[in-house]
Amino acid sequence: MTIAIDGYSSSGKSTFAKAIAKKLNYLYIDSGAMYRALTLFCLRKGIIEEVKTNEGKIDQYLKNIKIDFIFNNRQNRYETYLNGENVEDEIRSIAVSEQVSFISTIKSAREKMVGIQRDLGQNKNIVMDGRDIGTVVFPEADIKIYLTADVDIRAQRRYKELLEKGLKVSFEEVKKNIVERDFIDENRKESPLRKADDAIVLDNSNMTPDEQLEWFINLYNSIKENDN
Ligand code: DC
Repeated sequence: MTIAIDGYSSSGKSTFAKAIAKKLNYLYIDSGAMYRALTLFCLRKGIIEEVKTNEGKIDQYLKNIKIDFIFNNRQNRYETYLNGENVEDEIRSIAVSEQVSFISTIKSAREKMVGIQRDLGQNKNIVMDGRDIGTVVFPEADIKIYLTADVDIRAQRRYKELLEKGLKVSFEEVKKNIVERDFIDENRKESPLRKADDAIVLDNSNMTPDEQLEWFINLYNSIKENDN
C-alpha cells in the first residue's frame, strides 16, 4: 500500500508519517529531505546565485548526485545521505531552509527527485511525505492525506524544534520563512503544492500526535473494511 502525505511546511507531516510507518511497519520516505540535500549540495558548491540567473546550470551536477536513506539503529531513525555522507542534521539548518524552496522550483531538479522517489517507493508498503506525492509522484496512492495547520501554530512548532537543537533564531524569523515557503510552494509553476482531488484534509492545529495517529488508524481500518 502507498500512503501519500502532502501539506504545508511545518504542518507535522514527518512526525505524522513516521508514526504511521512505525505503526504499520511500512517504509518511511521524507521527500523534502531530498530537496534539502540537493540544496545543501548547491550551497557547498557555491552555485546558488548562478543557478538563480541560469537554472540550466544545475543540470550538469544532477547526474552526480546520489541520495540515500539509511537506518541508524542507535538513533532509531532513517538518515539522509548525500553522495555517501550523512547530512541529516545539516539539511535542517536555516541556510538550507532559506534556499530549498527556490531549488525545488527547478523542473530538472524535480524530475530527478521524482525519479528517485518512485524507485524507492514502487511496489512497496510505504509512507511518503512532501508537497506533490499524491498529485505527481504517486497519483495512484491508496491513501492521500493533505495536512494543514494554522500558520502561527506551525511557526511555534518549528521555533521550538530549532531552539531544542540549540539554534539561535527568533520566532519572527521562523514565521517569515514559513510564510515565504508556503507562498513559493503554492505558486510555483512546477508541481505546486495543492490538494489532490481525492485527498482527505486533516487540520491538526489542535491535535496531539497521538490523536492524529488514532484518526489515521480509524481511516485506515475503514478503508480496509471497504476493500474486503
Ligand atoms: O518538507 P520540508 O519542509 O522538509 O521540504 C523542504 C522543501 O522542499 C519545501 O520548501 C518544498 C520542497 N518540497 C517539494 O517541493 N516537494 C516535495 N515533495 C517535498 C518538499
